[in-house]
This record gives sequence, C-alpha cells and structure tokens, in this order.
Amino acid sequence: MKRVLIATEKPFAHSALSKISEVIRQSGYELHLLEKYQSKTELLEAVKSAEALIVRSDIVDREVLDAATDLKIVVRAGAGYDNVDTAYAKEKSVVVMNTPGQNSNAVAELAIGLAIYGIREFFSGKSGGELRGRTLGLHGYGYVARNVHRIARAFGMRVIVYTRYSKAQATSEGLEVASSLEELYALSDVVSIHVPARGEHLKSVSMDVLKHLKENAIIVNTARKEVIHEEDLCAFMEERTDVKYLSDITPDCAAVFAEKFAGRYYFTPKKIGAQTEEANTNAGVAAAEQIVSFFENDDRSFQVNK
Ligand code: 3PG
Repeated sequence: MKRVLIATEKPFAHSALSKISEVIRQSGYELHLLEKYQSKTELLEAVKSAEALIVRSDIVDREVLDAATDLKIVVRAGAGYDNVDTAYAKEKSVVVMNTPGQNSNAVAELAIGLAIYGIREFFSGKSGGELRGRTLGLHGYGYVARNVHRIARAFGMRVIVYTRYSKAQATSEGLEVASSLEELYALSDVVSIHVPARGEHLKSVSMDVLKHLKENAIIVNTARKEVIHEEDLCAFMEERTDVKYLSDITPDCAAVFAEKFAGRYYFTPKKIGAQTEEANTNAGVAAAEQIVSFFENDDRSFQVNK
C-alpha cells in the first residue's frame, strides 16, 4: 500500500481535502496528513515513511529530501515550484511535478481585486479611478496571466503583454505584444506580474524597467518576491511618489514600505492568491491523480525535474 503524505503549513479547504482523500483512498493508498505544522522537525518526522508527498509552498529542501528515504514523488499542488529543490530531488531519483493551471483563476481574480483596490485608493474614500479604458500590462503570459486577460477584457481594459515564450499564443488571442519589458512598463497604467521565480525573471523588475512607468501607475504582484529587485523598487517608490505597489507576497523590505510609503502600498497578510475552495480542490485533486497515475502507469507528464 503506497503511503501518501499531504504536508501543508497552509491547509487546503476542508471540502477540497475530502475530495483529495477520496482519490487517494479509492486507489488503495494510505493517506497521512500534516497540517499547520509549526516546525521543520515535524515535517522531517512525517516524511520519513512517505512514498509520495503533496505540498503547497512548503519548503522541500535537501534536509527534507534526505529525511524522506522512501520518497518517489513530490507534487507541488500549484504552479510555482521554487520551494522544492528540484535538482537535488533529481539526484535522489525523486520525481517532482506541479499542477499547472489548476489554481490560476483564483490568483487572477486576486490580481484584478488588487488592481481595483489600488485604483480605488485602498477604499479610503479618496476619489480614485476606473479600470475601464486603462491599459493593463501583463508581465508574462502563463495560465494566471491568461485568466487576468480574460477578466480585464470584460472590464473594458486595453491589455498588452510582454512574453518571450508565449508570443504566438498571445497574438492568436488578440493581444498586443510589447517588444520589450521597458515598453510594457512604459505603456501600462496597471502592470500585473506573472513570471516564475527562476532564470531571467529573478530581479527582473529592476530600476531599468521601473523608470519607464507611466505617471500614477499601479504594480500588482501575485507572483513571487524574488522577481522584484527590492532595493530598486524601494528607491523608485521614494523617487516616484505617484506609484503604488500591491502584492500578495510581503517583500523582505516591508519595514521600508511601512516607514516611507504609507497609503501607496498593500500586502496581503499571508499569500492568499490560491486560497479558494475551488483552487484547493482543482490543484489538490490534480496532485493526487498525478501521483496515482505515476505509480500505476509511470506517467511523468507534469514532471519539472527531468
Ligand atoms: C502557486 O505557485 O501555485 C501559487 O503561488 C499558490 O501557492 P500556495 O499553494 O502556497 O497558495
């Protein structure tokens, strides 16, 4: 009987968990659950006997992989797998997968929500603006950005994108593709960031790009803090008092924001982009099904550490 551990510091919704459990139990596998754990020690103990592991943003580093001596597969129920040491997992012949697209609508709805919150002056009562007629710049064009595009169109926004890998897709969907990141930032009233925390995207939102932003621009980040050059962002916010930054990820320099940029920023108290029943169900059930398919049919379709 395969042993599957769900280890989530930030638990799935109750209804999602029962659907995930059903998939695992119906396959004749054994389910173990570690939720809201307070220390890494608890995780190290729990992974010892696991053959499959489902996580969210939980850190799966060398120490965790070394402790998990029976582990064959880790599925990150979500998109970004920067929390998993994929290279070390590969060395240990542990397959790592994600569940692309499964929670993307939830994150997209939050991005639009943050844009509204920003343009409406944080619901302070101060006169704000409207999204209709304004330009939304999508920095990246993965699953989340595609959902943001769909929603923004309904709001009557002009939507443009900068993407290196999904140009054909964007063009086929009627999007204008900016020729550079600088151009995207120069044309947008709202920039929404949707690139993963790896490769050329790390610290890609730097002064070189930010300095092109339009007056009164709003930056929405539902991606990762690592894609922001935080020192540059702080220097830029200091210089450009018209710009706002709203993020689902608290930056390391949050204290600088609190001290200097009051009324021009917002950080969710905890990363909540994918924190909906629907996203939890879609991503969690997909993770469970991928595990079953891996063990039963050696299906490695969503492997990210080939
Ligand atoms: C993702 O990468 O899928 C999102 O950032 C959601 O992450 P979470 O599962 O930690 O909420």
